[in-house]
Amino acid sequence: KGGFEHFMLKEIYEQPKAMRDTMTGRLNAESKLITFPELNWTPDEMSDINKIFIVACGTAYHAGIVGKYYLEQLARVPVEVDIASEFRYRNPVLEPESMAVIISQSGETSDTLAALREAKRLGSRTLAVTNVVGSSIAREADQVVYTYAGPEIAVASTKAYTTQLLAMLMLAVYVGRLRGSLAEEKAEALATGLVSIPEQIHKMLEDVDQIKVFAREYGSSEDAFFLGRSLDYAVALEGALKLKEISYIHAEAYAAGELKHGTLALIVSGVPVIVLATQMDVYDKTVSNLQEVKAREAVVIAIGFEGDTSLGKYADHVIYIPKTDKYLAPLLAVLPL
Ligand code: F6R
Repeated sequence: KGGFEHFMLKEIYEQPKAMRDTMTGRLNAESKLITFPELNWTPDEMSDINKIFIVACGTAYHAGIVGKYYLEQLARVPVEVDIASEFRYRNPVLEPESMAVIISQSGETSDTLAALREAKRLGSRTLAVTNVVGSSIAREADQVVYTYAGPEIAVASTKAYTTQLLAMLMLAVYVGRLRGSLAEEKAEALATGLVSIPEQIHKMLEDVDQIKVFAREYGSSEDAFFLGRSLDYAVALEGALKLKEISYIHAEAYAAGELKHGTLALIVSGVPVIVLATQMDVYDKTVSNLQEVKAREAVVIAIGFEGDTSLGKYADHVIYIPKTDKYLAPLLAVLPL
């Protein structure tokens, strides 16, 4: 366990290295170019893709939801994200111009493997995003992008998830450039931002005292809620899953705007609500949702950027993460979760 108390903690601390390994050979810090030599796609190959289906289970599915935002925003391709155990039985509409992106840490999850086979049977192109070299999914997909997170021993996924997000972001930049839908300057800015991410994660992991205080204070809660909009919502889904899986606390994630459609009834005095507020284009809306839960006397732990002076006025506690681009924020915002 490398001196750590358990494998999950070890793998959390391996994230800076894992992320560097995911970038190696793909992100050139000098030229600021992101490429995938193993794919070597041409603009022609990319221009006729009319839809991408991302298919996965559990945490990998949550990485797929973040991937949808990335591919739609940066590469302007319509994306559907499906749970593998649903996709495989629902007779989906795929065609040769579709691309199925299959995400799986192990490359062996049986529903995900079956979904890959179904996509192939329907004539779609297939790409595996996986960690395990030579796994069934890696072998059967047309093409493979490895995440190079290193072995995952802990059952709960941490570094596998962050490297999946990173691989999906780099893929979206790569496809966006090939399709001509992403400006060169934006692609370069994202590449530059990514280079700093491993060190930023390293620094964040050095200072976890605040997290320990929250664990002591709220560890005996029975329920917890995670709220966010846009990419923050996608990250909130993973936060809720991890809390359930590791602490046995009932947890739910909601798109913050959905709260008023029924769920607000569950927000009662003292319930911890974790609100992610890193997406500036929806920031005001998120803060107003934060105020709604505060009005119901929930305990609000907000996650926002360093330098944000307004979150502290409304939330009970704020966890600050380094300020970064909105597309890179999930890579940092998920760490405290
Ligand atoms: C949760 C977790 C699971 C896996 C899921 C898919 O922490 O690890 O939800 O993400 O079982 O596994 P893979 O990615 O191996 O297909």
